[in-house]
Amino acid sequence: MKKGLIIVVAALLPVLGWAAGGAPTYPDDDIDINWDDKASMQRGARTFVNYCMGCHAVGYSRYDRVGRDLGISDEQLLENLIFTTNKQGEQTKVGELMTINMNAEYAEQAFGIAPPDLSLIARSRGVDWLYNYLRGFYIDETRPFGLNNGVFPNVGMPHALVELQGLQAPKKVVKTNSEGKEEEVIVGYEIVKPGSQSKSEYDQTVYDLVAFLDYVSEPYRQTRHKVGTGVIIFLFFFLILTYFLKKEYWKDIH
Ligand code: HEC
Repeated sequence: MKKGLIIVVAALLPVLGWAAGGAPTYPDDDIDINWDDKASMQRGARTFVNYCMGCHAVGYSRYDRVGRDLGISDEQLLENLIFTTNKQGEQTKVGELMTINMNAEYAEQAFGIAPPDLSLIARSRGVDWLYNYLRGFYIDETRPFGLNNGVFPNVGMPHALVELQGLQAPKKVVKTNSEGKEEEVIVGYEIVKPGSQSKSEYDQTVYDLVAFLDYVSEPYRQTRHKVGTGVIIFLFFFLILTYFLKKEYWKDIH
């Protein structure tokens, strides 16, 4: 009996720890991705190749598949989305994977940790987390890059979109946490050095980027939903058909 209790408590420990240690994060907004908004995902793809692909790959996607799914022609891909080259210095071809050439060893030296592949990031972190993370960089002189993040404390990534968002300083208040200790929590941000975009423009840029990452994490989702609807409609008609068939079979017996 005692042993059983210990096992139950041990099993619950991670859950309890998570509940108690869940430090507040800021920002904390929710978004819904519109899977039909191809234009938004196209803009997101452009932001991704321009601002993120220096460090992160989405190595399970091919350029031409992305182009087909999002309505971008091969010529447009070559002109606007493909900035990487192969070892001979030739531009990457449209049929190739969206990988990058950054050497993991170099990356670890530069950032302390290699930038992960982002193919599945929208599924592992969730779109809300990504939306908040990319809007959560704030000035913190104690950090190597002079910036910290309200959603991912002490993150090793520099703020890649800083020229768009500008720099923001945190508004902090002192609160008593669940253990009765006083701690500083961030309750808002204030732009102290504007970037090239206004707040609402920047929110839209990040939304588009997250929409692209969400698409990349499951490119066949639209197909899956279409096929699913078709199957349900088919089963419905099949049900009616079998109902009349049953009536036909049993009509002489009753
Ligand atoms: C200069 C290199 C660099 C650029 C550019 C860059 N990142 Fe990063 N990124 C990193 C590094 C390094 C990490 C690992 C940070 C850590 O774990 O502390 C990281 C981590 C992340 C993570 C968190 C992954 C996790 O652990 O769950 C996300 C999400 C992310 N980056 C998204 C982006 C997006 C989106 C862009 C483009 C706007 C971008 N990054 C641009 C270097 C970069």
